This record gives sequence, C-alpha cells and structure tokens, in this order.
Amino acid sequence: MSMSMMEIEKTLKQLRLSGVRATLETRLIESQASSLSFLETFSALLQDELDRRQSRLLERRYQLSGLEERASLAEFDWGYNPKIPKRTCFELHTLKFIAEGDSALLIGQPGTGKSHIAKAIAYSALRSGLRVLYGEADELLANLAQGASADKRKLLKPVIDADLLVLDDLFLARHLPAEAADALQSILHKRYKLRRSSLITSNRIIEDWHKFLGDAALTTAILDRLLHRSVLLEFRGKSYRLKEAASRLAKATHPE
Ligand SMILES: Nc1ncnc2c1ncn2[C@@H]1O[C@H](COP(=O)(O)OP(=O)(O)OP(=O)(O)O)[C@@H](O)[C@H]1O
Ligand SMILES: [Mg+2]
Repeated sequence: MSMSMMEIEKTLKQLRLSGVRATLETRLIESQASSLSFLETFSALLQDELDRRQSRLLERRYQLSGLEERASLAEFDWGYNPKIPKRTCFELHTLKFIAEGDSALLIGQPGTGKSHIAKAIAYSALRSGLRVLYGEADELLANLAQGASADKRKLLKPVIDADLLVLDDLFLARHLPAEAADALQSILHKRYKLRRSSLITSNRIIEDWHKFLGDAALTTAILDRLLHRSVLLEFRGKSYRLKEAASRLAKATHPE
C-alpha cells in the first residue's frame, strides 16, 4: 500500500527531512514534466535535503559567531586608500594563516577599513566551516573580566575554542581596566599555546599599548606571544567615514 501525499508529508516531518518536504511537490511535477527516472528524482531530493542542512548550519554558526554583518572584500574600494596592504589582505582572506595557527594585527588610522577587512576574513572563515568568534574587544574583555567565575568559564570556552578569534577595535576606550587586561593576556596566552589564530584590529600603534594596558610587563608578555607568529598590517590613509559623511551632506543640501 503506498502512502497518500499527506501521509508522506507527515512521515517526512517525523524523520525531520524538511529539505525533502519543502521541494517534494516541485520535484514531483518536474519528474513528470521531464520524464525523469526514479533515481534522478531521488538524488535531486537528497541534494535538496543536503543543501537545506548546509545553509541552516551556516546560519546557526553565523548567529553564534557574534558577527553582525556579512562583510566581503568585493565591495571594498582599494583605490580610496592605495597604501593599504591589499596583497596581504587577500592573502589573509585565503585563510591559510588559520591552518598555520598564525595571527594578524591590523593597526592604523581610524576609518581606513581595518574592521571591514577583519569582518570579511571572519565571514569567509565561517563559510569555509571554521569556528569563528567575533567581538568588539573592549566589550568582550569587560564581559570576561566581570561576573562570577562559573559564568566567566562558560564565556571563556568559545573564546578559546574558536579556530579564529577576532578582537575588533582594541583600546577604542582609552584605558583597559586591569581585569580586562589580565583577561586579554590569559586568552592570548592560551590560544598561542594551542596554536590558534587571533585577528586584532586597533587604531592605537603598538608602541602605545603599554599606556592602555597600564603595565609594562603585561604588555611585553602580550606582544611577545602575539608578534611571534603573526602578520602586522599597517593601515595608512584617510577615513572612509568622512567620505560617507560628505556624500550624505551633499545629498541633504542638493536633493535630486
Ligand atoms: N576602502 C574602503 N572601501 C569601502 N568601504 C570602506 C573602505 N574603508 C572603510 N570603509 C567603510 O567605512 C566604514 C569605516 O571602516 P572601518 O570600520 O572598517 O574602519 P576602521 O579602520 O576599523 O576604523 P576604526 O579605527 O575607527 O575602528 C565602514 O562602514 C567600512 O565598511
Ligand atoms: Mg574598527
């Protein structure tokens, strides 16, 4: 006895085959319209299930990663600040540095695209199936520094486990509280030992880090590990935010 369409739908639901359930009707019509064999239709349905699972997995990983935008290098205007190390940015975007366990520091003037490029690399890593954790550095470190130790451990686990950790806009707030500076040191030390990649962006030059960390020995400990296996990218140029602001102003004063 073959099942009715409603029974098939119910069974697919029970079996959690939502990809097949979503496309069954289309595939059925297609198979009749194009006189497809059973195997052709069956494999198309299996592929639909795989595709749906893949995109759901990616979506779940994206939600957990802390990324709030899907940045890419495609929309980046390389002509705006020609001194930006374009080749190294693309090299990082290939993700080879993650396989090597290397880190990257993107340092330079505000609005020159450091965060944009870091987010594009992070999104590319996420799409390739790696575990990514993105956070605005000051906020992430403050969260890790406060709270009960059980909560801290829970928060710390994904920070250590991630294949790629992005700490964006480090030292945006001029001064890092002592507990947050300790958290930074501990995270980078653990990740260094595990050979896991970290990507840090900051508009504070490395020579000034001791001022924001408030401790020379701690600064040396952090930089020693960070610079041992890493690429340093310098971002020199004018702020793209000013360009965006100028074009908004022009539109407001001369509306079409
Ligand atoms: N060359 C560029 N082409 C296109 N968009 C750009 C470019 N540079 C920066 N932007 C855009 O300008 C805005 C500011 O860039 P971003 O936040 O990456 O700068 P930043 O170097 O991280 O600055 P800060 O040091 O202040 O954190 C973002 O919206 C970014 O997408
Ligand atoms: Mg930034």
